[in-house]
Amino acid sequence: MDATARAHDDRVVLTWPDGRSDELPHVWLRDNCVCAECRDPDAWERRLDTVTLPEGLVPARVAVDDGLVVDWPDGHRTVLSASWLAAHAPGRTAPEPTEATGVPWDAAIAEQPPEIAHEELADDAHLLRWLRLIRDYGFALVRDVPTDAKAVVGLAERVAFVQETNFGHTFEVVSKPDPENLAYTAHRLYAHTDIPNRHSAVNLQLLHCLENSAEGGESILVDGFEAARRLEQQDPEAYELLRTVWVPWRFQDETTDIANRFPVIGTDDRGRLLEIRFNTAILAPLDLEPDLLVRYYDALRAFGRIVRDPDLEYRFRMAPGDCQVFDNQRVLHARGAFDPSSGHRHLQGCYVDKDDFRGRLRALERDGADFRTR
Ligand code: OGA
Ligand code: ZN
Ligand code: ZN
Repeated sequence: MDATARAHDDRVVLTWPDGRSDELPHVWLRDNCVCAECRDPDAWERRLDTVTLPEGLVPARVAVDDGLVVDWPDGHRTVLSASWLAAHAPGRTAPEPTEATGVPWDAAIAEQPPEIAHEELADDAHLLRWLRLIRDYGFALVRDVPTDAKAVVGLAERVAFVQETNFGHTFEVVSKPDPENLAYTAHRLYAHTDIPNRHSAVNLQLLHCLENSAEGGESILVDGFEAARRLEQQDPEAYELLRTVWVPWRFQDETTDIANRFPVIGTDDRGRLLEIRFNTAILAPLDLEPDLLVRYYDALRAFGRIVRDPDLEYRFRMAPGDCQVFDNQRVLHARGAFDPSSGHRHLQGCYVDKDDFRGRLRALERDGADFRTR
């Protein structure tokens, strides 16, 4: 390895031939030893006990050879390769799992919506292309899915596996007597995300059209991250309220009662958008202090105006065989009212956990390479 290393204070300073340097705290070097004793070579999980590493640990010797070689006072040796260090050195701006790589979109996406033909998905290279479309746009349509019952499960299982919920392993979106939620009526559904009341609202949603001969029932998708950015620009106070105030979501029926508080706009430790939860149909009675509550309604109204702005709406009509697949944490969906006496409308849906979707995407991106970087 071509670099120079010197121990200074509580860290090793590693200087590369191009003059850049990395500062590697001793405790971090010891914690990340990749020898078979410290990290299981097969499971590739840490065996070493991080929390009992001694305070003020200083190496006996630091050298550069075939990697960075650190000898510890107890005789243990840690060797870290140049490629491992390049991938993991602290402070480098490596992409993070939470990084939103999204491409913002609006109504103009109707000219060329992200889509793929069902038969292409037999091939892993196209599967990867599809999953990247969903990651980047928050949705991708699949065309010509066989209109067999449960074909949607086959599609979900091409990604990972179905995330079962209180609505079942799969669910039937049809207008029916005694519906357990508004989707199972012929009413209009305003732009919403599904199941914001669940702790793990995080999911990929699939809606596969089996029949659509009824009048009405047009579909709409909206980029919720773009809507949130517009709100932040137009009304920063409303944005902050929706981002910081945790509100109660609740779904109840005969057998369950699932209630959780979450904000409408979820962000990470750096204020970057993580998720949207927006479904006023299952917003529990707001229990905020009255002055805040009134301002909160103003914020909801401001966000509602943006998500229903035709400039953001991708409108389309589903044909039998179409499947909408969207990131329910980012993209809101809606449908127009339909007339059940004019024909049949039947969608079959299911969810896939977002971690399983993202996990499969990253694994496909490895393209067969070993994930164990030594
Ligand atoms: C749903 C839903 C949309 C539709 O089932 O969650 O929003 O087009 N359905 O019926
Ligand atoms: Zn070790
Ligand atoms: Zn829905």
